[in-house]
Amino acid sequence: MFVRRIAVIGTGYVGLTTGACLASLGHQVVCADVDEEKINKLKAGTIPILEPGLTELVTEGMAAGRLKFVVGARDAIANPNADDTESEDNPVEVVFLCVPTPMGAGGAADLAAVEAVAQEVRDLLPRNCVVVNKSTVPVGTAARTKQLLGRRDVAVVSNPEFLREGSAVHDFLNPDRIVVGCDQQDAAEKVAALYSRLGAPTLLTDAASSEMVKYAANCFLAMKLSYVNAMAELCERLGADVHEVTEGMGYDKRIGQAFLKPGPGWGGSCLPKDTNALVQISAAAGFDFPLLNASLETNNRQAARMVDKVRAACGGSLSGKRIGLLGLTFKAGTDDLRDSPALTVAAALRAEGAELTAFDPGCQTGVAGVTDGITVTDDPMTAAKDADAITVLTEWPEFRALDWKAMAKVASRRTVVDTRNLLDPDVLRRAGFSWVGVGCR
Ligand code: UGA
Repeated sequence: MFVRRIAVIGTGYVGLTTGACLASLGHQVVCADVDEEKINKLKAGTIPILEPGLTELVTEGMAAGRLKFVVGARDAIANPNADDTESEDNPVEVVFLCVPTPMGAGGAADLAAVEAVAQEVRDLLPRNCVVVNKSTVPVGTAARTKQLLGRRDVAVVSNPEFLREGSAVHDFLNPDRIVVGCDQQDAAEKVAALYSRLGAPTLLTDAASSEMVKYAANCFLAMKLSYVNAMAELCERLGADVHEVTEGMGYDKRIGQAFLKPGPGWGGSCLPKDTNALVQISAAAGFDFPLLNASLETNNRQAARMVDKVRAACGGSLSGKRIGLLGLTFKAGTDDLRDSPALTVAAALRAEGAELTAFDPGCQTGVAGVTDGITVTDDPMTAAKDADAITVLTEWPEFRALDWKAMAKVASRRTVVDTRNLLDPDVLRRAGFSWVGVGCR
C-alpha cells in the first residue's frame, strides 16, 4: 500500500473519523477546520463528539506523528508540516472535502461550504493532486468543483462515506463497500488504493453515479423505515405483532433483518436532509418521485402517532400533564440532537400543554439544542417523579436497567409509552406499569 500525504478539510463526524482512520491505516494526515477552538481542543486530545474508539485513534495517530490538526484549509494544503523539514519534497497528494452540506432553502443541499473551500484552495493545490468529495453532495458537484478549481491537473473524485454516528470508526474500518467515482480512472484508482488494507468490495465508477449512490442508499433506508413504521400501524389495527412480522420478513436475504425496527420516526443529520434533497434534485430534473414524498409524509405522521399514544395514556388530554421523557438524542450511542425525532415528539407534547422533564445518558443538564420548555435532568428518577406518563424516545440500553420498581413508587400514573419497543413489558408490568409500544400489544 502506498502511504499518501492527505489533507482533510472539516473535522465534523465524517472529517474527524476519516482523518483518524486514514492515519490508522498508515497515511500521513493533516486535518483542518475553521473553528480554532475546536482545533486547539483536538491538539490537546479532546474529542468534541461522542464516538466510540475515536479518542484512542486520534491519540495514537498524533503520538505516531501521522495525524496533525491545523486551523484553516490554507495551512493544511500550503503548509501541512511546518515542523517537518521534508514537507517541501512531499506535498499533499489527496485533499478530502468533509465540510457540512446542510439543508438549504426548499430542502436542497446547501453547497456554500464546499464552494468556499474550493475557491480558497484552488491556487494552493500542489500539481496533480486529487480532491475528494466525501460530503453528501448533489449529482454534478464533482464536475462543479472541478470547474470552480479551474485546474486541469487536479482531478475531483466522489467518494461518499457510509458511516453511522455512534459506530463511525467501526463502520469506516469495516465498510460494506467503498465507492469511488471519477471521470479520470487514474485518480479513482489512487483514492481506492488509500483503503486497500480494508479489503472491502470497491466500486469504481463515474462521478455522477458515485454521488447518486449515497442519496440512493440513504433514501432507501429512510423508505425502508417508513415502510416499517406504516406496517407497525397496520399491525396495531389488525392485532398482529410487528416484531414477529419484521423477523419473518428479515429472514428473506433480499430484505435482511437490519433497519426494520419501528420507532418515533427516523431522524438525525443525514436521512431527513438527504431525503429532502433528493426530492428537490428529482423535481429540478423534472421527475416526480412519489415514493420519497410518501416516505417523508409517513415519517411526519409517525411523530404525531406517538403524541396520540402519550395523550391517550394520560387520559385524553396533555394539558398540564407531567411527562417524563427517556431519551432526546436521535438514536442511542450519540450526543447528537440534530433533527432528533425525540425533540419533534417533545415539541408536539409541549404544544399541547405538557410539562416535560427529560433524562438522556448522552445529554447533560443545560445541553444546548434542546427544545424550549424541556427540563433536562441527570437523574432518571427526577424524570419519573410525579409523571403522568413516562415516554421512551431513544433506544439507550441503559433504560432497560433502570430501577423500574423505584420509578413506579415516584410516578403519579404508572404508564410507559415505549416508542422504541425497548423495554421488557413483563418487567414493566411486574413493577406495576402499564406498557404501550409501537406495532404490538
Ligand atoms: C445514516 C446512514 O445509516 C449511514 O449509512 C450514512 O453514512 C449516514 O446516515 C450519513 O449519511 O452520514 P446515521 O444518520 O448515523 O446514519 O443514523 P442511522 O443509524 O442510519 O439512523 C437514522 C435514524 O433511523 C435514527 O433516527 C434511528 O433511530 C432510526 N432507525 C434506524 C430506526 O428507527 N429503526 C432502525 O431499525 C434503524
